[in-house]
Amino acid sequence: MSQKIKVAVDGPSGSGKSTLAKKIAGELGLVYVDTGALYRAVGLYAARAGVDPAVSSQVTALLPQIQLSLGYTKEGQRVVLNGEDVSAQIRTSQAAVYASKVSAIPAVRKFLLEIQKKMASEGNVVMDGRDIGTVIMPDADVKLFLEASPAQRAHRRYLELQAKGERVTEEEVLDAVLQRDRADSTREIAPAVPAEDAIFIDNSQLDAEQTLSRALEIIREKLRRLR
Ligand code: DC
Repeated sequence: MSQKIKVAVDGPSGSGKSTLAKKIAGELGLVYVDTGALYRAVGLYAARAGVDPAVSSQVTALLPQIQLSLGYTKEGQRVVLNGEDVSAQIRTSQAAVYASKVSAIPAVRKFLLEIQKKMASEGNVVMDGRDIGTVIMPDADVKLFLEASPAQRAHRRYLELQAKGERVTEEEVLDAVLQRDRADSTREIAPAVPAEDAIFIDNSQLDAEQTLSRALEIIREKLRRLR
């Protein structure tokens, strides 16, 4: 593709954003950037430091100690926290809760803005997150907002956690999903809401391939109109 393109994929947790964004990247030859991983890495650092992720002043005081970078290998995106590859460690449910809490802190969002904006400015990217279409890439060529029912999202998350050996019930996962939805969409700064020009895909009844086909249809149509 000669023209550099930018695709934003936003939506709540468990809606399948990362699965979709990875597939779009593969199909269109774009770099996939998982921005949630950055919030998870800050959450992990706070957890290791024994800091309450909801106490803004304490988390903010940690930020000067944090060096984050994103790398790309055959296995996909790697997140490097102060020289350590923490890509696996950030995938626990504790890291998810910490990520959601630290993501409501303005200084944390500001801290992570530059790295995300830099990736966005390079173009030929598909980024997933909560504020990609509204804050990080308001100029994205295509903005997708992925949705699925809370029960469906909790079920997917439950299967993922089980596969990793975490002992949780589906009900606990649903509770956590609902709590995180509420926190992410009602926070004051960069709430997880769709951009005005976002195109919605509800994939409650779609599998990953069907979701990809729908997304590619939307992207190709949008790009055709832009040319
Ligand atoms: O997508 P995820 O579940 O890995 O994201 C973890 C948390 O990070 C999520 O609860 C909200 C926050 N987040 C955010 O506020 N903005 C983003 N662009 C990405 C994630």
